Amino acid sequence: QADVVPQAPEDPLFGLMAAYRKDTSPNKVDLGIGAYRDNNAKPWILPVVQKADDIIGKDPNLNHEYLPIAGLPEFTTASQKLILGADSPAIKEKRVASLQTVSGTGAVHLGALFLQRFYRPNTDRTVYFSAPTWPNHNQIFSNVHLPYATYPYFSTKTRGLDFEGMINTLKNAAEGSIILLHGCAHNPTGVDPTQDQWKEIAKVMQEKKLFPFFDCAYQGFASGDLNKDAWAVRYFVEQGFEMLIAQSYAKNFGLYGERAGCFHFVTSPAPDAANTSTRVGSQLLILQRSEISNPPAYGARIASLILNDPALFAEWEENLRTMSGRIITMRNALRSKLEELGTPGTWNHITDQIGMFSFTGLTEKQVMKLREDSHVYMTKNGRISMAGLNTHNIDYFAKAVDKAVRE
Ligand code: LMR
Repeated sequence: QADVVPQAPEDPLFGLMAAYRKDTSPNKVDLGIGAYRDNNAKPWILPVVQKADDIIGKDPNLNHEYLPIAGLPEFTTASQKLILGADSPAIKEKRVASLQTVSGTGAVHLGALFLQRFYRPNTDRTVYFSAPTWPNHNQIFSNVHLPYATYPYFSTKTRGLDFEGMINTLKNAAEGSIILLHGCAHNPTGVDPTQDQWKEIAKVMQEKKLFPFFDCAYQGFASGDLNKDAWAVRYFVEQGFEMLIAQSYAKNFGLYGERAGCFHFVTSPAPDAANTSTRVGSQLLILQRSEISNPPAYGARIASLILNDPALFAEWEENLRTMSGRIITMRNALRSKLEELGTPGTWNHITDQIGMFSFTGLTEKQVMKLREDSHVYMTKNGRISMAGLNTHNIDYFAKAVDKAVRE
């Protein structure tokens, strides 16, 4: 029977990573996957993570037993505080059901599965993604058979937010539609709404009874300030939305392969909100048990130790500033080098955009040319992971871009 299974295409991002590894050129530059690199293009173990790792390694009580289905309790409660704020009324009123997940992808999946099972059955349940979005969003929601559409997000003209397009689409979406929003540091564009624009988005979503699902994979990477980066999520909670949150610790702790993440269901304020939250939580436990039984422990132990210890937490904030600071330095350097070279086009968007990525505006043809001629690897949509740039390769990269743009 297996002879009817068609060949699937390679995952574009992991395929790109494999192609980069195979390339033997000493000049090769990896700007593909969103993973932080130090100034020598090497993965960076955050010093605070190393410290936590050492502490855990010396713990005589450490074992490899199963975690509870919902994960490590001190990890999920600390995760609530990190994203919602320690003094969030939603936490105080027990309106948040949280489960540890297989990183952000697992959290998005658990949310998608929950929606498919319980959200407004027999109505239009279209999920709206920003155009463009992280490509895995489409796959995750198609796996649970929820229909999806897109809202305009990126303006190719301004290389900023197409706010009007976005708002108009939200205004015309069917009541109850699910709106996937990036909490901060939008992937792939590096373009976020301003606080005023978020307020307008929330207002329209409330009027139109749209359901927010926040994907937060970059808290700490947009501004370097964890609270500031959670502003949009906290604003929506303040407005009384019922909403879902997917939280990833891959990027901000550099725990990519450890798959530490968290899923939160926030119930609207109501007299019976805590009961609703308990019921929702009980269903989420069944879904989790049937999918992964219980989540992996190691990454969550590291994150939990840091999140719950004020001194380690402060050190983590310092490490985050190191990462976001180096990325900002690279943004400034890239922009000024392209401007010095007189590379055709405008390059202010490189410094206007935030977070881990820049959406360069390079065409697919130019991207392929950069790969073939200069051994520079980036996704076909012209996204670059800023952390792949460093003081050793930035001149080389700027010159390669200059050449590709002029051809
Ligand atoms: C990326 O977009 O590069 C990251 O989010 C990695 C991933 O899993 O796709």
